[in-house]
Amino acid sequence: MKILIGVTGGIAAYKSLELTRLFIKAGHEVQVVMTSGAKEFIQPLSFQALSGNPVRDSLFDTNQEMGMGHIELARWADQIVIAPASAETLAKLRMGRADDLLTTLVVATDKPIMLAPAMNKVMWSNAATQENVAILQQRGFEILQPASGEQACGDVGEGRMPEPQVIFDAVNQFQVQQVKNQQACLELRRFWKGKTLLVTAGPTYEAIDPVRFIGNRSSGKMGFAIAEVAAKVGAKVTLIAGPVNLSTPVKVECLNVRSAQQMFEAVQQHVASADVFISAAAVADFRVAEPAAQKLKKQAGSDEMVLTLTKNPDIVAWVAQQDTKPFVVGFAAETENVLEYARTKLRSKNLDMICANQVGENLGFEQDSNALTLITEQQEKALPSSTKTQQATDLLRFISDLV
Ligand code: C5P
Repeated sequence: MKILIGVTGGIAAYKSLELTRLFIKAGHEVQVVMTSGAKEFIQPLSFQALSGNPVRDSLFDTNQEMGMGHIELARWADQIVIAPASAETLAKLRMGRADDLLTTLVVATDKPIMLAPAMNKVMWSNAATQENVAILQQRGFEILQPASGEQACGDVGEGRMPEPQVIFDAVNQFQVQQVKNQQACLELRRFWKGKTLLVTAGPTYEAIDPVRFIGNRSSGKMGFAIAEVAAKVGAKVTLIAGPVNLSTPVKVECLNVRSAQQMFEAVQQHVASADVFISAAAVADFRVAEPAAQKLKKQAGSDEMVLTLTKNPDIVAWVAQQDTKPFVVGFAAETENVLEYARTKLRSKNLDMICANQVGENLGFEQDSNALTLITEQQEKALPSSTKTQQATDLLRFISDLV
């Protein structure tokens, strides 16, 4: 494997010599890129001797760029490891800055990047640093948790660079996972490429008056994860989302609605072209029969308020009743008797498949992980608890085996 090690300015830079040695010993090719800060702590010659390659440190050195330009270097690497990653580097990466060779490489590459932050404990816990880390993580950077212990400055706390062996093991583990993911992606792509998927997600809000509504705790994360994974493996995805606080995944067409009635209308407009319909939304079963035109006021002398509710259309059941219909998948979010209720719903709504989902305290709704049981007339498969992205991947694979 071709490993590009980025070394930034920090006292932990000396540990990256050992990291370089570990990769070379394991038979990998290594090129080292240093920032000017890193060179204040350690001589490039040391890395050159260990890696067997000249150290790259300048974006504007014509000799260096003639050997291998920064774009070629970005393409050359199979894996980029930045260790130590300073607070400044994290901030620059978050901004997408490209003012030296290392940051330019990062902007110019689509290869996996692992960061091993190392800094004083106060710098690590600083709100800006933590926000930078969270955003980089969301963008797909693999970020190792710094170790805790005595720091070069005399403080004791979190912020030490993980030991080289820990970083080395993490890279190996990550690569194994990458290969598995790529394999899974290829298998999914075989079925989903070119297929049209319609997904509903999130809650619906049913107006009581212009400022109040009846809603539920669905976050929309499951439906968004399904849309994201399906789009990644080549499906044409339309996502109809109730009120959620999530960003639209890349290459997904997202239509925002509020009420069950609006969701129903959007589904009716889009379902004809769908090969698969996944109804992950927590659609309100009832709406207020006559929402008030003005904000309701407390009635003097009355301790009660009565709202008359009327049934909403059952969207997924409507789709499943059509003569020409897609493969129809429902969700059954339940707090008890989950499988039993799910099986009943599969039949009563005439679905091709249902995903049973235990919800309640710390389960299902609003969480990042989930444990679905996938049920058809013939089969039942309980997925082990995992991230919603993993659940979505397994769910899409299960459908591809059925259709
Ligand atoms: O009957 P219940 O609401 O438990 O059924 C859940 C399934 O039905 C989910 O897939 C949900 O998206 C769908 N549903 C719907 N329209 C409704 C109620 C539920 O599509 N009005």
